[in-house]
Amino acid sequence: MRLTVSVIKADVGSVGGHTKPSPRMLDSVRAEVSHAIESGLLIDGFVSHTGDDIAILMTHVRGSGSCEVHEFAWNAFLEATAIARGSGLYGAGQDLLVDAPSGNLRGAGPGVAELTFEHSLSGVRPAESFMVFAADKCGPGAYNLPLYLAFADPMYCAGLMLPPMIKGFSFHIIDMDNTAGDSVIELDAPEDSYRIAALLRDNERFGIDRIVSRTHGEPVAAASAQRLHAIAGKYTGKDDPVALLRNQGIFPAPEEIISPFAKAHFVGGDARGSHVMPLMPVPLNTAVTGLYCLPIVSCVGFSIDRQGRFSESHTDFFDNPAWDEVRSRAQRKALEMRSQGWSGAAMLPYSELEYGGFRDTVGGLVERFRMREASEPATVE
Ligand code: 13P
Ligand code: MG
Ligand code: MG
Repeated sequence: MRLTVSVIKADVGSVGGHTKPSPRMLDSVRAEVSHAIESGLLIDGFVSHTGDDIAILMTHVRGSGSCEVHEFAWNAFLEATAIARGSGLYGAGQDLLVDAPSGNLRGAGPGVAELTFEHSLSGVRPAESFMVFAADKCGPGAYNLPLYLAFADPMYCAGLMLPPMIKGFSFHIIDMDNTAGDSVIELDAPEDSYRIAALLRDNERFGIDRIVSRTHGEPVAAASAQRLHAIAGKYTGKDDPVALLRNQGIFPAPEEIISPFAKAHFVGGDARGSHVMPLMPVPLNTAVTGLYCLPIVSCVGFSIDRQGRFSESHTDFFDNPAWDEVRSRAQRKALEMRSQGWSGAAMLPYSELEYGGFRDTVGGLVERFRMREASEPATVE
């Protein structure tokens, strides 16, 4: 069968500030997913949250960008928004940026990542397993460095040296500044790996859209690289990207995919979407309570049976003492960065400041600058 795995996430309201959705909101989305499975729209579904974002993970046979599946997710988020509004929660409906989306949700606010592939549990994929990443309080390029390292650097992924992967992977990179549509370049690792790095170093402008195996032509990764504030024309919230990654066999193994997250690398976002802080790996369903909205990322793994259903349990990769040391490092890095407050690298550059208000403050001052007269002394004696 031609199976699609879709993950669609949105922030539609949260408790006590931008921390987490309420249990009633999650229950409502779960009930919608159960109905959609009963009605045959979906084969399977799983609902979770990472910080204040609700993620709906689904399998179905309607293909990537399916209007029915996207509309279903939108309506489930609308129901959760109504609950959030009724309880007076913060940011109710925050990521639902249009009145009524025309089918595909890309560009309407929610983050979307989808992979469609032939699913028969035979040939090069005798077993199908994959991982879902969800990050909160950070920009769309948060996965640029870890995915580059997992798919283009044998220091992190020894599997790249093995015959099924030695030809490398094709990176589809999207220019998120181009709001006219999806503007994408395809570059092949390893030949183009320096060019890929030259783009991916800019987490705010360029993001990984998908990664494809060059040996098998199979899609292995998809990320929701979009910019909320570019879509909305003004800051509405952080992008908080999701990503799907198939693993094992012809693809990197889970440990190769997650090991770059041990860096707790610095990402843009955080408090008021305007700072730079390390990305902390956390268990699924964690609230954002760290200092200055310390950005968080979760990672959960599933297997898929012959009918396209998820395995009865899932693996929460970062819910393990092995990651405690990384969490402590992230906290130390965060404290170091916060110790310099607003100065230099601690905040995003002017062009990326997400809160319009910061720009208004600076803009008002810029207007008051005057050229000093040549005759005027440069300093007062
Ligand atoms: P969210 O997009 O997660 O709501 O974050 C917004 C923000 O400004 C954090 O300080
Ligand atoms: Mg929020
Ligand atoms: Mg969020």
